Amino acid sequence: MDKKYMPEPYKVKMVEPLRILQKEERVEAIKKAGYNTFLLNSRDVYIDLLTDSGTNAMSDRQWAGLMMGDEAYAGSDNWLHLKETVQSIMGFKHVVPTHQGRGAENLLSQVLVKPGTYIPGNMYFTTTRAHQEMNGGTFVDVIIDEAHISDKEDVLFKGNIDIKKYEDLINKVGAKNIPYICVGVTVNLAGGQPVSMKNLREVHELSQKHGIKVMFDCTRYVENAYFIKAREEEYKDKTIAEIVKEMFSYADGATMSGKKDGIVNIGGFLAMNDEDLYYKAAALVVVYEGMPSYGGMTGRDMEAFSIGLKEALDYNYIKHRIEQVEYLGNRLIEAGIPIVKPIGGHAVFLDAKKFLPHIPQSQYPAQVLAAEIYIESGVRTMERGNVSAGRNKEGKEYFPSLELVRLTIPRRVYSYAHLDYVAEAIINTYKRRDEIKGLKFSYEPPVLRFFTGKFEYI
Ligand code: F0G
Repeated sequence: MDKKYMPEPYKVKMVEPLRILQKEERVEAIKKAGYNTFLLNSRDVYIDLLTDSGTNAMSDRQWAGLMMGDEAYAGSDNWLHLKETVQSIMGFKHVVPTHQGRGAENLLSQVLVKPGTYIPGNMYFTTTRAHQEMNGGTFVDVIIDEAHISDKEDVLFKGNIDIKKYEDLINKVGAKNIPYICVGVTVNLAGGQPVSMKNLREVHELSQKHGIKVMFDCTRYVENAYFIKAREEEYKDKTIAEIVKEMFSYADGATMSGKKDGIVNIGGFLAMNDEDLYYKAAALVVVYEGMPSYGGMTGRDMEAFSIGLKEALDYNYIKHRIEQVEYLGNRLIEAGIPIVKPIGGHAVFLDAKKFLPHIPQSQYPAQVLAAEIYIESGVRTMERGNVSAGRNKEGKEYFPSLELVRLTIPRRVYSYAHLDYVAEAIINTYKRRDEIKGLKFSYEPPVLRFFTGKFEYI
């Protein structure tokens, strides 16, 4: 049968009504929010593509799991389910639960990152780098150069580590000053780009040779596994679960935000094989999160998380998810709109430098583009450019090569009809792009400024 797309592999059992404001109301709302989409109230948003984090729709089984919450202070059944699920899917020996991904990043950084150390990674993630820096470490970007070029579409694994860059860093600063390499699978800020199995294997080999730990940021590891199956010839007949198992065999541990590929609304963990690291992290988790058998999650959260981790391995689920993202991306490409290519796993990223070439990066083109898309349509998106990158230790802005607006697709929430509306909203904004002006800060917070910063038109 010839069809435009394969429909959603689920049907609706409960609905959440949507509301759309009038255009004048949207102009007012975004002005009040300081032209920062993070500061909009969700009731003023029509289609919310701010993030895929914690915005997932749970299945009937997960909701049933909530009713099985064992809210014991210590050693609940749900914790055992979660721990055993992580151990069996990923193969790690130890698991430390945390309330979300950055809780795990905090523990890992506090235990392993010392002042004067270097942490290589395939591009930074905001909270991950913040924790490394707060512990006195220096993040070093060792992703392949192509990842920084938005339209380099012939590179199928744009998240790959550049082995030469990694080796050069080891030679320069010494392996003893590199506590671990952080490998994001997939790489969020590169556009949801995957890492190949071959690259993971090479990173593992080089790291082992020098006694450096490999820690995955496995927040979107199922999406990465799908790309390996689709793009790496020798994996085309393997199941997602088999691919995932092999991926993790090249890691010593991982941090995870369950709010993404765990298909839940809250939750996370730090997992590892090393016993010493486990004891140190388990001693810290009680200070920051809670007992090592709940780490900030309720029993019911952990049950839903455990079920979500298993559901995410279903091929039909992940295929549909990636195809939805590709559908939206391809509609924009057809309309001549500049986006990051290849299309990534969790989102379509607009290239704001090309969308608004008349606005210099110092006037935050991605920030204003996100605001204008909201005014146009009520669709909420997120800036991922100069504002997100922030300032270095000398107070200078980073001016990252990628100045992007992210249209992030929540898991199992929106239909293809919603995505058509989004595509039309972007196309309409593109038609009037010449009228759009730059922004300046009216309030700039000292860290992670994109969350709460406010702006005004220049
Ligand atoms: N690592 C990656 C790659 C992420 O994308 C995120 C969160 C985290 C770690 C931190 O996890 O939010 O559970 O503390 N990303 C969200 C986003 C916020 O919108 O991309 P968290």
